Amino acid sequence: MCGIVGYVGHRPALGVVVEALRRMEYRGYDSAGVAVVGPRAAQTGVVTVEKRAGKLANLTGALQVDIAADPDRFAGTTGMGHTRWATHGRPTDRNAHPHVAGGFAVVHNGIIENYAALRAELEAYGVEFESDTDTEVAVQLVQHHYVAGSTAGDFEASAYAALRRLDGAFTLLFVHAAHPGTIVAARRSTPLVVGVGDGETFLGSDVAAFIEHTRDAVELGQDQVVIITAGGYLITDFAGEPQPGTPFRIDWDLEAAEKGGHDYFMLKEIEEQPAAVENTLLGHFEGGRIVLDEQRLSDQDLRDVDKVFIVACGSAYHSGLVAKYAIEHWTRLPCEVELASEFRYRDPVLGRSTLVVAISQSGETADTLEAVRHAREQKARVLAVCNTNGAQIPRESDAVLYTRAGPEIGVASTKAFLAQVTANYLVGLALAQARGTKYPDEVAREYRDLEAMPALVEKVLATGPAMRDLARELAGADTILFLGRHVGYPVALEGALKLKELAYMHAEGFAAGELKHGPIALIEDGLPVIVVMPSPRGRAVLHSKLVSNIREIQARGARTIVIAEEGDEAAATHADNLIQIPAAPTLFQPLLATVPLQIFAAEVAQARGYDVDKPRNLAKSVTVE
Ligand code: AGP
Repeated sequence: MCGIVGYVGHRPALGVVVEALRRMEYRGYDSAGVAVVGPRAAQTGVVTVEKRAGKLANLTGALQVDIAADPDRFAGTTGMGHTRWATHGRPTDRNAHPHVAGGFAVVHNGIIENYAALRAELEAYGVEFESDTDTEVAVQLVQHHYVAGSTAGDFEASAYAALRRLDGAFTLLFVHAAHPGTIVAARRSTPLVVGVGDGETFLGSDVAAFIEHTRDAVELGQDQVVIITAGGYLITDFAGEPQPGTPFRIDWDLEAAEKGGHDYFMLKEIEEQPAAVENTLLGHFEGGRIVLDEQRLSDQDLRDVDKVFIVACGSAYHSGLVAKYAIEHWTRLPCEVELASEFRYRDPVLGRSTLVVAISQSGETADTLEAVRHAREQKARVLAVCNTNGAQIPRESDAVLYTRAGPEIGVASTKAFLAQVTANYLVGLALAQARGTKYPDEVAREYRDLEAMPALVEKVLATGPAMRDLARELAGADTILFLGRHVGYPVALEGALKLKELAYMHAEGFAAGELKHGPIALIEDGLPVIVVMPSPRGRAVLHSKLVSNIREIQARGARTIVIAEEGDEAAATHADNLIQIPAAPTLFQPLLATVPLQIFAAEVAQARGYDVDKPRNLAKSVTVE
């Protein structure tokens, strides 16, 4: 998730764009860059660009130096900007956007899935790439069409020709040195909105980019192009056929705009989970095979693995517990899931045939980083699952699979957790593929089932109102228990963690089969117990045992709130409150069952008057042991 800004109007574009980037920094802060099309670009034949790795301040510092040396360098009333959350290519100056080729400059949010094939095609024409990003393919492709072929010399036609070659999810903005006063933009599956001013037109990843200048906006649909000038905009499809946009009036203030109209980033991030799952999957299935982001491990290395350890903390640890069921089922490898803070102190048995999977949103968690270092000292191979490109843990690993949840501002992990669960499935499939414990068609089928999950996660968001009502009803409870079996057990643990860290309420997750071994003594009249039901279509014995557990606790006075698949008759019969989620393959159910529990915890916290984004005593990344 990156921040994108465009401007065409009567004001100096640089100032408008930089100010807009300040309000888009929460969308990505690995690097920032600007491009201006003005008199200098007309003289030189290239767009005037400045870009820097790191926070926006690095860019503004560089701009100050540039302008002190050459005051007119960035003069011009057409410009665009970008704050990056790196997906392909480390956060460096070279990989920062805008990317340029010939007279073009491009900024991009999303993932160009077929970038490798397009890059090879263009390199065969002699095109030399400068960066490691997928984005550079877009600017080299449009330049290629501009200098050769049927669209030669035609800015807009070349942009359309390039767009039609791209697969994946993308918001792209194109400018050209010889065409001031025009920006060509396109969107597929990632956000882009138009701001309509008086003699000026804006583009933004969200309305925060231009809300201080205009509240008249136009939403773009899927696979649409918008060409903006100072006088207005034209919307078409990718074939160039005019299409209507959806005008609307922005009634949010700036702060609400950054949070998508919500009171807290976490609530927005819960709603970003379908995209987080979808983007994490994008580009990881090529040529009928699962591909990782950085694989310094051969398939033979993976075949040599005789044991897997997963090390992580908190929610990342819970995502690892889900992964265990998938990895063992698909690969027949023993898989242990360890709290990173305990791992290295228990002197684990590790060696060259051990694979350690380190899961971390921040990639900087000290407990997990030290566990990685210990594993490498013991000659184990390390695969990182991380949401932060270029962070310490991936840098010290042998292979990396990046989750693509985008920046997660809320301290409590939501979209990063679902992205971790998704990425862990890909790790399991990559292992099964390398070891031949699943045929290619079976791996492909699991991947296709995963591709269907974002739409189901979207559907589960509809449980929000019911969870909100429950939260208001139970906000005064002293404790709430969570039960689950199989992959529902880690979901129960995650639901309890969310409630603890957000609402400061005692909560505990249990494997339902453990109840009779002690915890059932906790059950008393009116005690709320949230039960995560396994699919009735999966392991029938698991389902029937959990029905028995529900009846056992109800017999002792518990109030049961049951998360169950649509059509689960037994759950409907016995639950005091039934929360229905769509049917999904057994192993993938955590992607759905977790969402109502996130919403519930956030709503209890709000009912108790707490800051959902910044819970007390907690930090987003724990960089001390
Ligand atoms: C989860 O809601 C917490 N914020 C916390 O448990 C977090 O998952 C844990 O600290 C691990 O962080 P990491 O993924 O950045 O390593």
